[in-house]
Amino acid sequence: MNPRLFGSFLEHLGRAVYSGVFEPGHPQADEDGLRTDVLALIRELGTTMVRYPGGNFVSGYKWEDGVGPVEQRPRRLDLAWRTTETNQFGLSEFMRFTAKTGLEPMLAVNLGTRGAAEAYELLEYCNHPGGAAYSDLRRAHGDEKPYGIKLWCLGNEMDGPWQIGFKTAEEYGRLAVVAAKAMRLVDPDLELVACGSSGRGMPTFGQWEATVLEHAYDAVDLISCHAYYQERNGDVDSFVASAADMEAFIDGVVATADYVGAKRRDPKRINISFDEWNVWYQENSGHPEPEPWSVAPRLLEDLYSVTDAVVVGSLLITLLRRSDRVTAACLAQLVNVIAPIMTEPGGPAWRQTTFYPFADAARYGRGEVLRLAVESPTHDTAVHGTVPLLHATAVRGEDGALTVFAVNRDTTRPLELAVDLRAFSYSPNRGGPGEGELTGPAQHTYLADADRHAKNTLDQQDRVTPKAGQPVAPDGGVLRVVLPPLSWNTIRL
Ligand code: AHR
Repeated sequence: MNPRLFGSFLEHLGRAVYSGVFEPGHPQADEDGLRTDVLALIRELGTTMVRYPGGNFVSGYKWEDGVGPVEQRPRRLDLAWRTTETNQFGLSEFMRFTAKTGLEPMLAVNLGTRGAAEAYELLEYCNHPGGAAYSDLRRAHGDEKPYGIKLWCLGNEMDGPWQIGFKTAEEYGRLAVVAAKAMRLVDPDLELVACGSSGRGMPTFGQWEATVLEHAYDAVDLISCHAYYQERNGDVDSFVASAADMEAFIDGVVATADYVGAKRRDPKRINISFDEWNVWYQENSGHPEPEPWSVAPRLLEDLYSVTDAVVVGSLLITLLRRSDRVTAACLAQLVNVIAPIMTEPGGPAWRQTTFYPFADAARYGRGEVLRLAVESPTHDTAVHGTVPLLHATAVRGEDGALTVFAVNRDTTRPLELAVDLRAFSYSPNRGGPGEGELTGPAQHTYLADADRHAKNTLDQQDRVTPKAGQPVAPDGGVLRVVLPPLSWNTIRL
């Protein structure tokens, strides 16, 4: 798997940036106005990459507004979210944020209201050493060294009618190839993501990917997928099986990309950047509608339950299982806006329930993903048909450790997991990895709760935390672990 699978997303939306990561004057803000309590949680989360600055926001964004002396930056209407953008945080603040968190930046260019010229000018500002207008401007702004940003999104959700400057597949495919080719002339060393469908339910899904790639196959490396899930009408079984939809989405995009490649007799493979995925209660924001054009209002501040966390874990399992073709992914988003980390202005920062499965996967899910032969009882769901109750994957880490990630989709009964380890050698008493052997008893942690609606809130920040199971050793080459009802589990040897 590619560590970029554990990416995240920071959009100029609501309080993601302002009073999320950036709050000059907060007691824990550093010299750049970044909240050190939030930076510490981001490091603990283990995300590897961050997509910026949008999202819907990018389709109306002028990157030039966010560089240079802060006091000279204009306030602008952000049409995507109908707020006012102060531009107190822009590109160089973002780059300082990535340097302090160790995150790889993934930048989106505006192909909604702008075109190829603005895209390659931004690229020159970021990646060119100097000697021309935009790169010299960066140096004049105090950033002598180029940023060296490798991964770029060619716009955002350009198939969506809600998007400023949305396009037909023909229009976008043509623009994407023109922008990509110009950008590669500035910097040949880029990886470029074309916009795929903003959801599998879009009426143009499939045809969109085919048409865009007919134009841009040569010029791009990845195509994006976006997917958000929520529990509807109390149908928890369908919700908990949301990963079935994500798998079908990935299969459909792989098939379509390979169809275009086959027609071209092209050995090149287009991989997937699943650069927006999460649980999102789109019809219920949980807070009153803000006044139009307010600055950094509370938007999309979903508070996540135990059930939501189990779904997030299951989606992570799918991303790992399909990491042969999904080589980048971004949990949308990082702070305050449908996020694993919440903050209060002037107050604390805390972990949502969804923080925990992501942190487990990002910490222990790096290495080689194994192909499992999973046998499981099944149950019927209204939306996804018959699905297995056990959803699992396993990763052989770079340190030799074996980690099984498993979700029990049964909301009322525990499930016994039996892992046949006979393909591995196992020494119960030897300490330390290194010779291809598994050692010691397995460590089991899980996230589950008698109240599946339990959440972490400002008043109860640690209401839901992972619990430790009993350490258990394999017997006769088989490891047996009981997965609690509706649970996310991490089992390590
Ligand atoms: O992540 C929230 C929004 O969802 C993004 O701005 C947009 O790309 C998607 O529709």
